[in-house]
Amino acid sequence: MTGTACPGTATARACANIALVKYWGKRDAARNLPAAGSLSLTLGALVTETTVSFEPALAADELVLDGVTARLADLRRTSVFLDLIRSQAEIRTRARVTSKNEFPTASGLASSASGFAALAVAATAAAGLALSPRELSILARQGSGSAARSIYGGFVRMHAGHEANGSDAFAEPVEPIESRLADRVRMVIAVVGGGAPKSHGSRDAMDHTAATSPFYRAWIDLVPGDLAAAERALAAGDLAQLGTLAEANALAMHASALAARPAIVYWQPATLALLAEVRALRDRGHAAWATMDAGPHVKVLTTIDEADAVAAALRAVPGASAVTISGPGGPATVTA
Ligand code: PMV
Repeated sequence: MTGTACPGTATARACANIALVKYWGKRDAARNLPAAGSLSLTLGALVTETTVSFEPALAADELVLDGVTARLADLRRTSVFLDLIRSQAEIRTRARVTSKNEFPTASGLASSASGFAALAVAATAAAGLALSPRELSILARQGSGSAARSIYGGFVRMHAGHEANGSDAFAEPVEPIESRLADRVRMVIAVVGGGAPKSHGSRDAMDHTAATSPFYRAWIDLVPGDLAAAERALAAGDLAQLGTLAEANALAMHASALAARPAIVYWQPATLALLAEVRALRDRGHAAWATMDAGPHVKVLTTIDEADAVAAALRAVPGASAVTISGPGGPATVTA
């Protein structure tokens, strides 16, 4: 693949995703290769739109996030990522990147998955590269592990791969988004703590867990079996089986982080209150299974029929600052 003589501008949209079998640990930190696979649901309510414009007049890359000039650390991470694309396209031109998160207000939700997926799709299009979805997934992974999954819509499986160069560490759809389960499923997102910045970024926290937690090995050994069981549940269209597994898997991931030294504790009192409410909803016969990522928020897997009842119950929990219902989202796409 070669670059066009005159790189231009492109805009892309990508949805965030929430893992049902988590990615937590790397086999190669420099190449950002996961130690195990993962499985996620792409969410239509959490969208990032990114425009990349390669401009010969620029002396350095520029990054504006949600209307504000980005912090130096975010700009550096973006520049390193753009360098991958520049080297593939054989161009040196610097870029102006404008990115906007269309997330629920003050959500405090992680945007690195949708952010790097949108950046990969927009920047390659602007550079005149025509990459396959698999190539885009491999590229997005180098920005953020979970971004590899946001290239696709619906349920998505990430492969850990074995190759040292990461050529087999990519995501792919588990089943078409038109399938019965993908139509029925909903995620209710309960934000805790008003969107305060995370106490530990996922990148550092997973490295710290791998380096110090006595439970890290057990966590990594658990994932392949959970992935196989999750895929069986998906193939059978069995949401209860998938949800039960997702909740157990999230708790195991947090258990490995809690056992790190010093501990990584993402939970706040409202996190535990929300988890208790999810169990109470199940006891009352509702379809509701919780998952949590590198933050205090609780995301609940449920059905289209139960989503309103689940959201109402979570809104009543003291400390839940915003509750949003999302259906599955589509693949990352170039829009302009
Ligand atoms: O993509 P990263 O490096 O932000 O890591 C994502 C980590 C979790 O959100 C906790 C789990 C996952 O699989 O998305």
